[in-house]
Amino acid sequence: MSLLFEPLGLRSVRFRNRAWMSPMCQYSAVGGVVQDWHSVHYISRAVGGAGMVMVEATAVTAEGRISPGDLGLWNADQLAPLRQIAAGIRHHGAVAGIQLAHAGRKASTRVPWDGGTPLALADGGWRAVAPSALPFAPDHAVPTALEPVHLDVLLDQFVHSTKLALQAGFEVLELHMAHGYLLHSFLSPLSNRRTDEYGGSLDNRLRFPLRVAQAVRAAWPAELPLLVRVSCTDWTEGGWDLPSTLEFARRLKALGVDLLDCSSGGTVPDAKPPVGPGYQTRFAAAVREQTGLASGAVGLITSPEQAEHILRTGQADAVFLGRALLRDPYWPLHAATALRGAVDDWPAPYLRARPG
Ligand SMILES: Cc1cc2nc3c(=O)[nH]c(=O)nc-3n(C[C@H](O)[C@H](O)[C@H](O)COP(=O)(O)O)c2cc1C
Repeated sequence: MSLLFEPLGLRSVRFRNRAWMSPMCQYSAVGGVVQDWHSVHYISRAVGGAGMVMVEATAVTAEGRISPGDLGLWNADQLAPLRQIAAGIRHHGAVAGIQLAHAGRKASTRVPWDGGTPLALADGGWRAVAPSALPFAPDHAVPTALEPVHLDVLLDQFVHSTKLALQAGFEVLELHMAHGYLLHSFLSPLSNRRTDEYGGSLDNRLRFPLRVAQAVRAAWPAELPLLVRVSCTDWTEGGWDLPSTLEFARRLKALGVDLLDCSSGGTVPDAKPPVGPGYQTRFAAAVREQTGLASGAVGLITSPEQAEHILRTGQADAVFLGRALLRDPYWPLHAATALRGAVDDWPAPYLRARPG
């Protein structure tokens, strides 16, 4: 028996296995709208056997995009083609998930293959917003500090995108509160220097992300799971850390969040994470053990045996696979063969290629 291939239930949703596709920006959208690339990319991972296919960071507003190539979900033009992708994912047996995001002070950059550098207003960029007027890096423009009235608008934008995600046919919603983007930048004392009720103490720094989680939970059907991705540490002295994450996890759980997707880093450019195989899994383990909230492990999980070990040792309820799934869309099918032998649910048109 393999735990990786044991189904998992969250609320009314059943995942055929625990090998899930991690959200990964493709930087290939036009005006926030998915293109043919996205359709091929996402649906082929469902054919490849993933238990859930999580669509990349999808911005709730135009200014919330990291780059001009980011997906968006704030209007009907963006909704219609996304519906086909969600349907395709579900048709091929995977759960269709989507990550809603706002890039905050890391917004308005070129796509990675054009250098990923800041995009000035004169070059088609836009003004970034943040909890405080502190740029991410010296070459970034100073973001506009959000006023409380802007936070109310942003909250409505997250709720609006949540409703559109439901209309598009997604079954799992993930809020992006990691990697130094807007919601993480409220949590971290390195990027949040506010002196109002949204900054300073831990309670205050949690306030806006918790408001978003609560409003989204209320707008997302009770039978569907809500996930949150966090950075469990900033890897920087004086930054966001694991004890703060655990407190945040307890409060998210009380609001009805179903699983914490445990990543790390992204707040400051000079952090030095000890990157290596499974380097973040201990965070998922701590969340699961110490808060009782289900957790997902992510980060350099590349082999079937490693994924199985993480689950079998109780470190996480599911694993998110990133680059391994970019390299090989059929990673889960190959993993199933490695861990279980011949696989029954091999796609019928490919049966003559089934190993064993
Ligand atoms: C091309 C690329 C795009 C990414 N985009 C996102 C994203 O949209 N949202 C997110 O939370 N993480 C994003 N990440 C991080 C991945 O989801 C994952 O956490 C990270 O790559 C570590 O996992 P891995 O070692 O399995 O790739 C991205 C990573 C890559 C390589």
